[in-house]
Amino acid sequence: MNMNVNQLSKRLTNVALKLPRGAFFADIGSDHAYLPCYVCLNDPSAKAIAGEVNHGPYKSAWKEVENHDLEGRIDVRLGNGLHVLNNNEVRQVVIAGMGGPLIRDILESGKEKLSETERIIAQPNIDARSVRQWFFRNGYDLVDEVILEENGHIYEILVGDRGEPAASYDSSQLEKQLWLGPHLLKKAEEVFLRKCKMELEKKEYVLSQVKQASVVNEEKILQLQKEISWLKEATE
Ligand SMILES: C[S@@+](CC[C@H](N)C(=O)[O-])C[C@H]1O[C@@H](n2cnc3c(N)ncnc32)[C@H](O)[C@@H]1O
Repeated sequence: MNMNVNQLSKRLTNVALKLPRGAFFADIGSDHAYLPCYVCLNDPSAKAIAGEVNHGPYKSAWKEVENHDLEGRIDVRLGNGLHVLNNNEVRQVVIAGMGGPLIRDILESGKEKLSETERIIAQPNIDARSVRQWFFRNGYDLVDEVILEENGHIYEILVGDRGEPAASYDSSQLEKQLWLGPHLLKKAEEVFLRKCKMELEKKEYVLSQVKQASVVNEEKILQLQKEISWLKEATE
């Protein structure tokens, strides 16, 4: 739930907090354009492009922008992913409220548009690992991660700055950190620990099932055992 500009969701408020003052950013998959409107209403020096691939949300975005008289500072564009942007047009990119694999695909298919992009803020609803991997392989240093709970859902926000992609990782723990998040592991906040405990229960259940299968999949068992040991380390 985005709520609206006057009462933005905790999730999108935390995304907005990761933009610098005077941002010139793209919000890809903007839906009602609540995020760019909120940012521009709170920072007179900010400008944005709201990208939408679907007509309904595209129209809603324009309506919201017009309601706040922000047409001069927010341009709403119809199109797929980063293809609505000109080369090097924005300094920051936000992609929020989608699955990690879709965010990764949007970044990958439009990466030529990002050569001057300083910061990418991604909020994957599932599978944050796909986004961490994309940052790692494409020259973005994962400088911060936020985890929060809202209306019974747990959300992660990943902040990638152009830079040394390995800086936030320990090479001996890369696979674990790409999966669970190097900063989230370090901060070990209550919401993160709770998420890990739920994941641990699921993995232990899957392992018990895999072990009982008529054809034993040794590779799957080893992978699950490894993940279970990481989750135990994280929560102990
Ligand atoms: C669940 S909404 C998230 C809206 C908002 N970003 C948020 O976090 O609340 C996802 C939006 O992304 C749009 N979308 C999905 N794939 C897209 C793509 N490839 N390019 C642009 N927009 C896309 C959908 O039309 C939808 O409005």
